[in-house]
Amino acid sequence: MNKQTIVSGIRASGKLHIGNYLGALKQFVELQNQGHNCYFFIADLHGITTPFEPKELSKNTLDVVATYLAAGIDPNKVTFFLQNHILEHATLAWIFNCITPLGELERMTQYKDKAKEHKTSINAGLLTYPTLMAADILIYKPNAVPVGDDQVQHVELSRVVARKFNHRFGKTFPEPQTFMRKPLRIMSLTDPTKKMSKTGDEALLLDDEPKEIHRKLKKATTASVSGKKSPGEENLMLLLSNFGTDEEIRNFMNAQSRGILKYSELKEVLAKDIADYFADFREKKKELLSQPDYLAEVLGQGAKKARTAAQATLTEVKQRIGLL
Ligand code: TYM
Repeated sequence: MNKQTIVSGIRASGKLHIGNYLGALKQFVELQNQGHNCYFFIADLHGITTPFEPKELSKNTLDVVATYLAAGIDPNKVTFFLQNHILEHATLAWIFNCITPLGELERMTQYKDKAKEHKTSINAGLLTYPTLMAADILIYKPNAVPVGDDQVQHVELSRVVARKFNHRFGKTFPEPQTFMRKPLRIMSLTDPTKKMSKTGDEALLLDDEPKEIHRKLKKATTASVSGKKSPGEENLMLLLSNFGTDEEIRNFMNAQSRGILKYSELKEVLAKDIADYFADFREKKKELLSQPDYLAEVLGQGAKKARTAAQATLTEVKQRIGLL
């Protein structure tokens, strides 16, 4: 791949899980190491669209900062920052709100799901979440946006917004592609018909100690649903394909095809593989969290770099639409 501009973010709403890692963070590190021009950030403004505690929010944000770095993001190689530090994102999001038909936002699957889940607190931010996301993306004029399967619809909307803007005001934005090695959705351990999210025993957190990983996997549901293949089994095999050795993958696939797969064995092997895989990560992260001044400095430097690019785009946008 030629040198590309890449943009992506992760919400600051709790500790990251293995779905966030495989769907997003792991690919961020790979793209960084391939030498692309990457903008990676923490979507703290998106983090406040669902109920939150102010003290928890700042703690969660720092936690995600340390997670990015411990997972291998190098602030000298990429532009790494907090979304709320770059005010231009919110301004561009407002402009996008004014050209995006309400119907486009109302049909977003995540909006419909979240609105159901948070019946008593359906705020306007939940609805306009994708226009802020479009601003996060388009402000850096990227070629590609690495995300997990659940965010594809939002990246598509950013293309719709780019097209609408370009059509009305003249060619300004590229239409960025979704970047996914293959569509990836890690499912909940307790209900594998739902995607893994940031709450309860359903998620394997990147911070989980080996004992905890073991405990959660042991409890993972493997029951089949109405005579079909067990979605829990598929999910565990998907995890094995990401964390297991070639030999383990071959052996368990073989056992699966012969109908002699033992879940207890699969869970044991997987627990050990995942615990080992994240051993360095856990140590590095603890060390980083003990250096809050360093984390603040990294974010300050990243914000400077991001702001230069964001300001240039916003100036161009304002000129195009006649804002002085
Ligand atoms: P968030 O924090 O919900 O998810 C962050 C990334 O993790 C992926 N992901 C998963 N992948 C596989 N299986 C899962 N179970 C799973 N759960 C989450 C998501 O697809 C995502 O890539 N709106 C974004 C944050 C954002 C953003 C952006 C992303 C804000 N602005 C601009 C890209 C570009 C989100 O919900 O992240």
